[in-house]
Amino acid sequence: MKDYIDSLFQFIDNSPTCYQTIDQIGQRLTQVGYEKLSEKELWKMEAGGCYYVTRNDSSLIAFTIPKITGAEAKSSASMTLSQCRGFHIVAAHSDSPCFKLKENPELTMENHYLKWNVEKYGGMILSTWLDRPLSVAGRVVVQDKGELITKLVNIEKDIAVIPNVAIHMNRDMNKGMEYNPQTDMSPLVGSIEQKNGYLALLAREAGVEEEDILGQDIFLYNRDQCKRTGIEGEWICGPRLDDLECVYGALEAMVQNSDCDGQYINMLAVFDNEEVGSGTKQGADSTFLRDVLARIQNGLGIEEETYRCMLADSFLISADNAHALHPNHPEKADPENKPYLNEGIVIKYHGSQRYATDAYSAAVMKDICRKAGVPYQSYANRSDIAGGSTLGNILMAQVSMNTVDIGLPQLAMHSACEMAGAKDVAYLIQALNQFYGSDNR
Ligand code: CO
Repeated sequence: MKDYIDSLFQFIDNSPTCYQTIDQIGQRLTQVGYEKLSEKELWKMEAGGCYYVTRNDSSLIAFTIPKITGAEAKSSASMTLSQCRGFHIVAAHSDSPCFKLKENPELTMENHYLKWNVEKYGGMILSTWLDRPLSVAGRVVVQDKGELITKLVNIEKDIAVIPNVAIHMNRDMNKGMEYNPQTDMSPLVGSIEQKNGYLALLAREAGVEEEDILGQDIFLYNRDQCKRTGIEGEWICGPRLDDLECVYGALEAMVQNSDCDGQYINMLAVFDNEEVGSGTKQGADSTFLRDVLARIQNGLGIEEETYRCMLADSFLISADNAHALHPNHPEKADPENKPYLNEGIVIKYHGSQRYATDAYSAAVMKDICRKAGVPYQSYANRSDIAGGSTLGNILMAQVSMNTVDIGLPQLAMHSACEMAGAKDVAYLIQALNQFYGSDNR
């Protein structure tokens, strides 16, 4: 079985921030014939067509419309239930915890050092960002002949390091350390001579004049590339595995199922801002998915009653990485519902429904895995540990349908360098191929 690891690594290495992630997904979809739609323009869609739309350059929804063949193609102006039964959706998130540069980021120290002033984006393990080469990437908005346009930037150099305090200056360091995000986490980026060079650095990279940059969303990122580890290369290690592993797997399955042969509209939905609660105009808690579904309904002339039937027959797989059993801390896991790396897709359960999985959606997911020949495992928090949240139940407040929360097993979630199993991404692709490729759930 193909393990997809080399192309997964390439995808992650080329995605330092959510903006590059969405750009890469768009490029891949365009290559295989998807047409880009704009939310600002009227949509013209056809049966058998493949489309995608982005919001804020950081979220993306792609979809394929079933073909209509034979006599039906000529007779009907609007799609009917016999032609299109509903939506098959996979959702994942484009963002990862990191540090955002403040609007005026330059800080000087003792007239010798130049540092950058950063703030937290999401809940990362702070200490993992220390003592490693970092750089910055993101987007700038520039004035260009009277128009405001967005340009992506990525400084592909090891320019920043957040240095630790030496053990000699803090003998208690190994007894547990509290880091203050304002005072302990500023990266050292140069000597005092580099002062006032920040915008010029971005401008050079974007190919614009410094004074034309009017807006910026710039983030620190870990310069480490993904690697295989383990005696037989059985593990993978690298930044942003949560959730780019699932994004990559879902994209790959979507691309492999672009033939529009089934009776469901296949969709891939990648949302920004999961790590900060999803409550933005492009997050899972926005109207993005609902708006796209409504425009598909409208564009295909689907009647309201038919649309309601379609939603009731739809299914959503929310794919966001899951905690594997920690080899040094098994006591953190539930006694029974504890996944392992390389042992397959994790179905997540939560009594108070922070995961959307229920008996029905779990059964659908297990059935998909069985048909695909893919192993699956279960995850629940220890009953005395709160655990995290994800996309599934947030999306359901906007558009309600049967939903399962799944993920790939990983360790060190929200570290600057995370760890997962080399077999699991292929399992995800195989299972999602089954989901997208078959009308028989
Ligand atoms: Co996640």
